[in-house]
This record gives sequence, structure tokens and C-alpha cells, in this order.
Amino acid sequence: MKYLKRCTYGLALVFFSILNLQCKPEKKKEAVKTETIVTKNVTIEKHDFGETPEKEKVALYTLKNTDGIEINIMTYGGIITSLKTPNKDGVSEDIVLGYNSLDQYIKSSPYFGAIIGRYGNRIAKGKFTIDGTTYTLATNDGENHLHGGLKGFDKVVWNASEETDDDSVSLILSYLSKDMEEGYPGNLEVTVTYTLKNDNTLAIAYKATTDKTTVVNLTQHSYFNLSGDFSKSILDQEVEINADTYIPVNQTLIPTGELATVEGTPFDFRTMKTIGKDIEVANDQLKKGLGFDHCWVLNDQNTGMRYAAKAYDPISGRVLEVATDEPGIQFYSGNFLDGTLTSKNGGTYAHRSGFCLETQHYPDSPNQKDFPSTILEPGKVYNSKTSFKFYVKK
Ligand code: GLA
Repeated sequence: MKYLKRCTYGLALVFFSILNLQCKPEKKKEAVKTETIVTKNVTIEKHDFGETPEKEKVALYTLKNTDGIEINIMTYGGIITSLKTPNKDGVSEDIVLGYNSLDQYIKSSPYFGAIIGRYGNRIAKGKFTIDGTTYTLATNDGENHLHGGLKGFDKVVWNASEETDDDSVSLILSYLSKDMEEGYPGNLEVTVTYTLKNDNTLAIAYKATTDKTTVVNLTQHSYFNLSGDFSKSILDQEVEINADTYIPVNQTLIPTGELATVEGTPFDFRTMKTIGKDIEVANDQLKKGLGFDHCWVLNDQNTGMRYAAKAYDPISGRVLEVATDEPGIQFYSGNFLDGTLTSKNGGTYAHRSGFCLETQHYPDSPNQKDFPSTILEPGKVYNSKTSFKFYVKK
């Protein structure tokens, strides 16, 4: 009897499916603007986001999970344009500085949310030498080279594809940086993969290969303000950095070559303290950086992915935890923000309304023989990983 019932049910299903197929009107062929791929509880969606003055189309991808994390990333500069996470009351708010339109990013941006390359941070006087050949780069930061030059990876349009897994979605961005682009040798094939996981982690994996020996140091330049209110300063937010030493710099923010202990200095973030606590202390390095704008030498080097830093906003309860396999992290307290750039929520971005935690190799490594090497040779693969985990502390 049971068997008969099942058969009848099965036959009925087949019948209705055929009927359904036959009755379906032919699908209209329309330009598909939005595609959604759903996994367990993480989704990725693609939207148009305008075009550059050179008429290159730019797409914006929304990565979302059901815990209230929503990240928008565009193919121009691989820029994270917004990142919403819940506060302790479950209210999701945007915690990264940026703009509402592509045009604003193109017009003027202090690297808001962007992928930085080929070389994140500074190269002294825009020069380095490989095997006896000296390469000259743009000097776009006083006498030094900064963040890849005049048109770095933050200003190019990346190719994009999507990938989904049971518990994550990924946006895979790729770019071919041609031999001698911005003065760097070698055709560099770069892939940056952003993965949003169910466990509220945003993982970033960087990969690159070259056909000529070159230097590479990629990073992500999001400015965080964990309060979710960009009119608030970040000085009351707390930071911890897993580093016993940091890298002192000269007047132009180039490392002196020394690795200095943080002990007894404002650079000691080994236990949580507010960013504002020591930022105004009379200190030569703080004066040079106009605040914190230094690279910390992370502990437990060469152990792969490990805990690097944490930030916490006591009011919203939001915590950001950073892990990386990189040797260093640049902690920048938004010292150059000066109230001239328009905020997403109206108003402007005031001095120290955002902070960056940029995982990377040390600044000016190509000219500092004692720093871990940033050389990439043909046949080798540059691999770097960083993750941002979001949660709340009540
Ligand atoms: C990095 C640098 C800073 C500044 C910002 C962008 O964090 O270290 O000095 O250039 O990028 O404004």
C-alpha cells in the first residue's frame, strides 16, 4: 500500500513537471543586471557601478551573510566601498570610510578601501636596484614613492569572477600589471580573492607571479571606524597589536633600519588601549608620523597565519580581529584626513575619523638589506594572506 502511494505520488510529480515545462512562457532575453548565487547563508550579487573616464565598465559586488555582514567591493581598485557589521544590539552599520559614487573615488581618494600594489608603503626616493639594474619609480609622496605610484592597483579596473562554497562566497579579482608599468620590471599577474565566510570572517588572499625579477608588497587599505558613525573620532576606540618591536622612521617616513622595542613608548599596544591614550605624548616618532603611521614588527614570524591585531569600540561593542602571515602591519591613525573629503553620510571626514591596519612587508624593504625580502622571481609564487574577523563584545 505504502509502495503504491509513493508510486502515484511520483507519477503525479513527473506529470506536473512536464505540464509546467510546457506551459512556461519563453523567457524574455533581457540584459541581466543582477545575478545572485546563494550558498548556505552567504550570497554574492553583481551590480553595475558606472564606468571610468576611459569607458571601462565597473561592477560592484555585494557579499552578504545572514549574520548581518554585508560587504560591497567594486572592480575599480578592488575597493571595499562599504562594510556593514552588527553592533551589540544587532544593528548593522557601515564601518569603513569611503564614498557613494565611483566618480568621487576617481577624483580624489586617500586609498579608501583599496588594494595597494605593486608596493604598499614607501620606497625611498622612488629607486631600487635588482641585479645591478636601478629602477626609477614615481615620487608621489614628497621625495618618495608611495603605494604603487601614480596609477597603482588602487586605480585600475580588475577582472572579476565569483566562486561559492558551502559556507563562503568569494570574489576573485585579477589584473595583469605589464612590464615596466609604473616603472616596475616584469609582467606581474596578480590575483586578490576576497572571501566572506559564515563565521563572519573576511579573508583576503593575494597571489602574484612574474616573468622578470621584481618587488611585490600587496595590502588592503580600508579605513575603519567601528562606531558606525563617521562623524565620531577613532581616538576612543581601542587597539591591540601583537608586536614587541616597531620600525622607527626618518622625517620622510622611511625606516631608519632599526627595529625598536615598544616597551615604555607610545607604540606599546601589546595590551588594549585607546588610540587616543598616548597619541599626543611628546615623542619624536609620533611627531614624524603626525600620530601613528608606522609599521609594527609582528611577533611569531614565519609561523604562517597568526593573530596580528585587534580593534574594539566600547560603545558599539564591535571587535575587529586581524590575522596574517605577513611580517608587519602598518597602523595608521588617519592623520592626513583633514575635513576636506565628503563623507558617505553627509558632512566630511574629520582628522582621525578612520584608522588602517595594513598587513604587509616592511616599508622600503627593497633598499634595506636586513628586512625580509620583497623580491619575487620568475617561477616563484607570491602568496600572502590576511583575515578580518568581526564580532561583538557585550
Ligand atoms: C598609508 C601611509 C600614510 C598615508 C596613507 C594614505 O597608511 O603610511 O602615510 O600615506 O597611507 O593617506
